[in-house]
Amino acid sequence: MTYILKDLFKSIETFLSSDKQERITEALDPEDLKRILNLDESRKREDPGTIGYWIDKYLHYCVKTHHFGFSNRMWSGANIPSIAGEIASAVSQTSAGSYEAAPVSVLMEKYMIDQMIRLAEFTDGEGQMTTGSSNANMIAMMTARNIVSDHMKSTGLSGHRQLFAFVSENAHYSLDKTVNILGIGLDHLIKIPVDKKGKMNVEILEQEINLVKERGGDPFFVTATLGTTVRGAFDPLPAIIKLRDKYKFWLHADGAWGGAAIFSDSLKNKYLTGLESVDSFTLDFHKMPGTSLICNVLLFNNRPGIMDFTCNVGDKSYLHRKEDNGGDYNLGTYSLQCGRRVDSLKWFLDWKYYQKSGFGDRIEKYHKLAELGEGIITESEELEMVVPRESFNLCFRYKIDGNTNRFNQILRTELYKSGKMLLAYGYIGKALTLRLLFTHQNMNEKNLRYLLESVIETGNYLKENWRNYEQHR
Ligand SMILES: Cc1ncc(COP(=O)(O)O)c(C=O)c1O
Repeated sequence: MTYILKDLFKSIETFLSSDKQERITEALDPEDLKRILNLDESRKREDPGTIGYWIDKYLHYCVKTHHFGFSNRMWSGANIPSIAGEIASAVSQTSAGSYEAAPVSVLMEKYMIDQMIRLAEFTDGEGQMTTGSSNANMIAMMTARNIVSDHMKSTGLSGHRQLFAFVSENAHYSLDKTVNILGIGLDHLIKIPVDKKGKMNVEILEQEINLVKERGGDPFFVTATLGTTVRGAFDPLPAIIKLRDKYKFWLHADGAWGGAAIFSDSLKNKYLTGLESVDSFTLDFHKMPGTSLICNVLLFNNRPGIMDFTCNVGDKSYLHRKEDNGGDYNLGTYSLQCGRRVDSLKWFLDWKYYQKSGFGDRIEKYHKLAELGEGIITESEELEMVVPRESFNLCFRYKIDGNTNRFNQILRTELYKSGKMLLAYGYIGKALTLRLLFTHQNMNEKNLRYLLESVIETGNYLKENWRNYEQHR
């Protein structure tokens, strides 16, 4: 059956060279796509062409995220070394939980964690790869919860002062999920207002911490977001660290997006001052660094033995035994799930290929392009920034008198339908903002200008025909 794989490689080559095409999506309605895909269609049993047939259908109708016009998420087409790693790990079909079953992967994971601990300048650092920053945020908070008292892990929340966690109002929604899952409660996640730049207001954070304490609660956890999802704002770490030292909460840094600045010395200085003093830090390699989804790391700082307070519970004697060969290396002991994908290989291959300097150059390129894009938008007659740029995100819109939100929403849909561009959007306050995120390896000045000109061109057309759109609301 290896012919299936040979065919697959041919299809992959064709697919990846499709980044020169104009359309990145067919933008079909679900019912039309269902009809075209005809998922019920059956072919002769064990027909040699069946797998290639379905793979080609899949690749034809999927969104071409490796096209620079895909700017809808914080990730886009993956690095080729990591795609190779993804395929090799699928072929080796193992779970990265124990050294015995996945020796190479486990050593690669340990190696990469050590590399990252060094970059973060952590002391006695430890860590693990997780299934994305949402889960890394949750494990960080769970670990912090498990050390608030000696008996937290055994008796749970009952019998302890009520726990409260704090995030900025612009933090990622995974923190809401976290307090929901951990039983801390949505009302116990205090959302701190942000300043004009989208950064957490630290004075209000301190006031809220004191309020919780006065009411008998335990302010045990603060997340500083390093690169907020919509605006790319960095919460002021040094000021939050001062509060952490005063109030002794656990300080977690959510660097899912902006943590990638760690690869560039200049951007690390600019955006991540104080990182070496936080208690935990997470970063998604599948975002700006471009590793194949999913690829994440969660690091702990200066807390020897902390891994025992992560997910290390339950009888795993049938699986993760210390006395087995390499038993001290068993990573599954501490992980959220039992089966663990071999995410380390793709990350390791990317690291060996691009190296720290390659990632550093890439992140600096994105930063410069974001700066350039802001200049183009500010100088243009048709576009405007909704808020000034903080880092890697451009929040902008087409200028129009009247219902700007509706106009920009339709503009985005028209760009999507044209197949040229899949832009992200969000809200800042009540203003709808288009978001251009720099996370695509092939993004350069020419492509950036082309994308912004496409927005202007489609916006101009829409403006001329706006009456028709208004009549069809
Ligand atoms: C700031 C921030 N934190 C966490 C996450 C969640 O990351 P993941 O998709 O890896 O769960 C995101 C995703 O966009 C994010 O922007």
